[in-house]
Amino acid sequence: MPFEFPDGIDSVFVPDEPELSYGLIAASLLLPYLEPYLIRSMRAARDSVSDPEVLSGLDGFCAQEGQHYRIHSKFNEACRLEGFPGLASLEQELKDDYQRFTTQKSLRFNLAYAEGFEAFTMNLVHFIMGDDGLDLPDSPIRQMWEWHFIEELEHRTVTFDVYEHVVGGYFYRLIVGVYAQWHFTRWLRKVNRYMLRANPPPKRTPAQKKKRRAEGRSARRNAVRNLLVPLLRTYLPHYSPHKVDISPAMQDMADRYTAMATQHS
Ligand SMILES: [Fe+2]
Ligand SMILES: [Fe+2]
Repeated sequence: MPFEFPDGIDSVFVPDEPELSYGLIAASLLLPYLEPYLIRSMRAARDSVSDPEVLSGLDGFCAQEGQHYRIHSKFNEACRLEGFPGLASLEQELKDDYQRFTTQKSLRFNLAYAEGFEAFTMNLVHFIMGDDGLDLPDSPIRQMWEWHFIEELEHRTVTFDVYEHVVGGYFYRLIVGVYAQWHFTRWLRKVNRYMLRANPPPKRTPAQKKKRRAEGRSARRNAVRNLLVPLLRTYLPHYSPHKVDISPAMQDMADRYTAMATQHS
């Protein structure tokens, strides 16, 4: 993808929104560790896949995830993060976890982890992007996230199919999937908290604080209704990402980013 980032992107790159900016940076820092781990897991399953459709989904998945983390690494390197020296040890901790999972955990665990992550992102993308794209100023950063999110929707069935095809088992997928969601969201929360401690938001007036608290309450209610409830549905035995549709507006967005990629290839 032709995304070019200027050098020295401010860590508060969404104006006046340190919490949101740090949240997006934390997510972007996660991906160059998590996505290579997903690719390793899927590749380890490749020889056990006999269905040509599942196999072509697996190869497409690895290609898409490989592009995602490379672009995120480029963005991460362009961010000015020298005021956050503690990030290095948090990143090392994450890297060690994923290396340990690959070398010490079973293929079944790693495939169930991958599906736990993908089920989460599928719902997250619907929740924060919807039909209108991201509510961020237009820039290569916004485009990077929209492109990534839309491709997450495109490959929403792949890890589910590979898990079912190679190992299978509802309860195991449920337990490890929930663990996966706890594992990476815990890391994101830790990074977020650290960044807010290391570089706190500017002092806000009582009126600004009150407004933010009200916005926070409304955002939490919205998240329960539109993120938590759909996520809980993925825990049910009859759940399948094959039953989840992409809206025409989201398909248009996917087509726009595909056209952007082919123009520059
Ligand atoms: Fe991805
Ligand atoms: Fe993905």
